[in-house]
Amino acid sequence: AFPQNVRLVEVGPRDGLQNEPEPIGTETKLALIDRLGAAGLTHIEAASFVSPKWVPQMADHREVMQGLTRRQGVTYSALTPNLRGLEAALECGVDEVAVFGAASEAFSQKNINCSVAESLERFAPVLERAREANVRVRGYVSCVLGCPYEGEIAPAKVAEVSKALYEMGCYEVSLGDTIGTGTPLKAKRMLEAVAREVPMDKLAAHFHDTYGQALANLYAVLEEGVAVIDSSVAGLGGCPYAKGASGNVASEDVVYLLDGLGIESGIDLEALAATGTWITQTIGRPNRSKVGVALSAK
Ligand code: HMG
Ligand code: MG
Repeated sequence: AFPQNVRLVEVGPRDGLQNEPEPIGTETKLALIDRLGAAGLTHIEAASFVSPKWVPQMADHREVMQGLTRRQGVTYSALTPNLRGLEAALECGVDEVAVFGAASEAFSQKNINCSVAESLERFAPVLERAREANVRVRGYVSCVLGCPYEGEIAPAKVAEVSKALYEMGCYEVSLGDTIGTGTPLKAKRMLEAVAREVPMDKLAAHFHDTYGQALANLYAVLEEGVAVIDSSVAGLGGCPYAKGASGNVASEDVVYLLDGLGIESGIDLEALAATGTWITQTIGRPNRSKVGVALSAK
């Protein structure tokens, strides 16, 4: 059965922008985050405390996190792959952090320069320190429906890594179709395997739209009871370590789908679409939200 309410996690300022080749000003990022909050997003992934050599676009993570105009009821989170990233994020007053692992060995090596097992070892102290600081930790699993280097990924492997993150203390595990190769039945089967290890209400869907399947895949997992969806305004984005990957499913398109299904999200679609139009014009990118394009043509 479909959930009654869905929480959107807006990853545009991080996943959406991390791959942009031209530098984007901190002021633009801050304005984007503020507009997203005004549109009703309650959970915004604002920055990434990773190496600026690996992801130059996120090099201003401190300025972004410290420059936020905080809105009541909004959680501002950041990626923190290691203790160093976590300490910096805590200094900047982050509300919540995320560690990111993968169900693929090859992707893990390319993305965070270590094996899956090593990554879990690195995350353990991050979770421990975050707990001391009273900061919640989200866990990502990449390549849940395919890997750019290994191809097919077994659902059992996704379940295993998800379970490890959950047992380590991640309050939620976000399942990433990093390269958007999934299709609905495959997504359903993967989710079934994971849900045997991690409760359904602790799972989120993080689907990229590279092959145009993200909305269909979301429909499939919503039907199974997933109630947290990661998305990116205007469908911004791609992953620097997954060549050819396009952006996350567009937030506007997700909200339109949810509205049509009678599922509450608390988001103002008009304001969100206007934000998508504004950011794509500002950074000179096509708007990859069909709903956003349709609404802005009205
Ligand atoms: P490493 O080389 O194994 O670690 O990198 P290291 O400790 O040897 O450090 C290497 C360099 O990074 C050093 O600098 C460190 O100082 C620096 P150098 O000596 O070369 O000048 N460094 C840091 N700098 C700033 N903040 C830090 C930090 N840590 C080390 N926290 C590391 C390991 C994880 C750091 C590196 O591989 C990295 O930064 N990777 C970034 C990967 C990334 O951001 N990928 C994109 C996000 S994940 C994603 O998009 C998928 C997701 O959306 C879900 C999905 O769609 O599937 C979440
Ligand atoms: Mg992603």
